[in-house]
Amino acid sequence: MPTPTPDAPHIPVLLGPLLAAAAPVAGVWLDGTLGAGGYARGLLAAGAAKVIGIDRDPLALDLAAEWGAPYGARLRVVQGTFSQLDTLAGEMLDGVVLDLGVSSMQLDLAERGFSFTRDGPLDMRMSQEGPSAADLVNGADEGELADILYHYGEERASRRIARAIVAARALQPIDSTLKLAEIVSANLPRPKPGQSHPATRSFQALRIAVNAEFHELADGLEAAERALKPGGLLAVVSFHSLEDRIVKRFLQMRSGRMGQGSRHAPMTEQEVPRFETLTRKAVAADEAECAANPRARSALLRIARRTDAPAGPADRSALGLPRLALKGDR
Ligand SMILES: C[S@@+](CC[C@H](N)C(=O)[O-])C[C@H]1O[C@@H](n2cnc3c(N)ncnc32)[C@H](O)[C@@H]1O
Repeated sequence: MPTPTPDAPHIPVLLGPLLAAAAPVAGVWLDGTLGAGGYARGLLAAGAAKVIGIDRDPLALDLAAEWGAPYGARLRVVQGTFSQLDTLAGEMLDGVVLDLGVSSMQLDLAERGFSFTRDGPLDMRMSQEGPSAADLVNGADEGELADILYHYGEERASRRIARAIVAARALQPIDSTLKLAEIVSANLPRPKPGQSHPATRSFQALRIAVNAEFHELADGLEAAERALKPGGLLAVVSFHSLEDRIVKRFLQMRSGRMGQGSRHAPMTEQEVPRFETLTRKAVAADEAECAANPRARSALLRIARRTDAPAGPADRSALGLPRLALKGDR
């Protein structure tokens, strides 16, 4: 099947601040969210000797076969998830970047089913395999749907929407993005000018559930800790508060800034600093970038440097994972 062509290329977000904070860029970097390759190309141009690019979506790999050819052995691309980045890399790294969520290419392709404004099959699978959003929406029970909408989308009308989904699917399966968007919209107040589309939170929630995004993130941060050399950098760009909270808590905890030890209660093994944060406060895009690329408006960048303390498992209960993800969801 030919690679579908997205309407417009994905514009990388916060790449300038990331490269500035990482300068001088050198050695082996891993881009765990390759997408259209904006970060990978930026890192190679800035001086990385080699970039290992991972994406779970075969579309990203197909695109890299075209744009990546001139880089030869300096670029190695792998299909997989960043939760396994240490194993997939197979070598110690000087830097890891994660640019979370979906790309504008994935959103723009109606057939991928991520968009509530373009009609397509209710899919939302980044890897294009496994259970889809339609399987979830038509198969989960009402309570489970409400929990997903509430915990992963912070949707306050979660119960009302879940009830409406269950009533609608009893008449006919909800198999398209616009059918679902209409059900959600019909159960929420009409948005005021400037407010986001009423289905935004529900679509975010379902996408997170379908792709197990919070488990991926928690596992990915731990995998980066294992794979980074002492002095190596971890940079993460997140797009909503639930994601950013996990990154922020992980870095706080792993830099020993959560539950500091004292003379009477020395640091536990768990709190020995594995990272030193370079961004106490997350970095946001400036006005010019937000004007040029609306996706940048919600983006937040956090960067930390790996210390030489041995890696170890993190305490998931302190990470700020939504309750559903902590319970071990689908
Ligand atoms: C925001 S886009 C990255 C865009 C990229 N930085 C660029 O400049 O083109 C996120 C990409 O990460 C991929 N992705 C999301 N979660 C992933 C995961 N857990 N493992 C591997 N890839 C993932 C998505 O398929 C998507 O292509």
